[in-house]
Amino acid sequence: MRRRPEALRAESRRLARRLKRNRAAQRKVLDAFDLAHLNQVSAMSELATSIAHELNQPLAAILTNAQAALRLLAHIPPDIAEARAALEDIVADDRRAGKVIQRLRAALPRGAVNVAAQDVNELARAVIPLVSDAARLAGATLRAELEPGLPRVRGDGLRLQQAILHLLVNALDAVSPCPPDARLVVVRTRAADRARVELCVADSGEGVPPEDLERIFEPFFTTKAQGLGVGLSISRSIVEAHGGRLWAECSPGAGVTLRCALPVWDEGARRAG
Ligand SMILES: Nc1ncnc2c1ncn2[C@@H]1O[C@H](COP(=O)(O)OP(=O)(O)O)[C@@H](O)[C@H]1O
Ligand SMILES: [Mg+2]
Repeated sequence: MRRRPEALRAESRRLARRLKRNRAAQRKVLDAFDLAHLNQVSAMSELATSIAHELNQPLAAILTNAQAALRLLAHIPPDIAEARAALEDIVADDRRAGKVIQRLRAALPRGAVNVAAQDVNELARAVIPLVSDAARLAGATLRAELEPGLPRVRGDGLRLQQAILHLLVNALDAVSPCPPDARLVVVRTRAADRARVELCVADSGEGVPPEDLERIFEPFFTTKAQGLGVGLSISRSIVEAHGGRLWAECSPGAGVTLRCALPVWDEGARRAG
């Protein structure tokens, strides 16, 4: 008769211990989620500030020119030629701003966030066909060196693919001025250590001066005539929202290597939570 309540007490202690462990694991998962969410919010608000700044310039110019046109038309007699020139400037500024918005729309991530376990090699294999035509057109060789059996990461597959795509497009841009037999882009994956998987995009291009290695991630930083300069900043904000890091390395005489390190998904935490 005495064994039953004792067994029950032992069972209840075991359950309490398990509950405590589960709570700790759950808290860990929630903390990680909050952190990722905060990262994403702060990276995005930085980008939003830059976008606002970028659009403010044409808006200010449009206002100045509109006011000038009004003044010129109020002259007696009205200065039609100058007013026309001001209106033409307004049209040009508006077109420029419209183009920025249009290209931003294409570059920014869209759709609901969809988080799942991801195989980095599969992500790379999904993106490569998207640029293989561009690579052929540029006369560039695109090589994949993917380490098999990598642990998975956790995140939104489409967003991660988008980040990789921006890196590949930049690499192809970078090698296009090289002689035809020296246009090489390599996508590599490897287990950086037990906690991180790394995906690199290396190119044989001209490289980036050391003082620009961080600036290239600033929104709207571009050295291209037709560039918008948001690809790398968007890629970095996507990677950081996944708890990872994206940076550029460049050694003299070699091209640029963009390194993206993503935390391995701790499946143990998932089971406990
Ligand atoms: N692989 C690369 N090699 C050399 N320069 C690069 C490379 N990737 C990015 N850059 C530099 O970083 C700038 C910003 O890149 P990005 O944000 O993608 O904008 P965009 O491609 O529109 O210029 C580029 O204009 C270029 O100067
Ligand atoms: Mg780019």
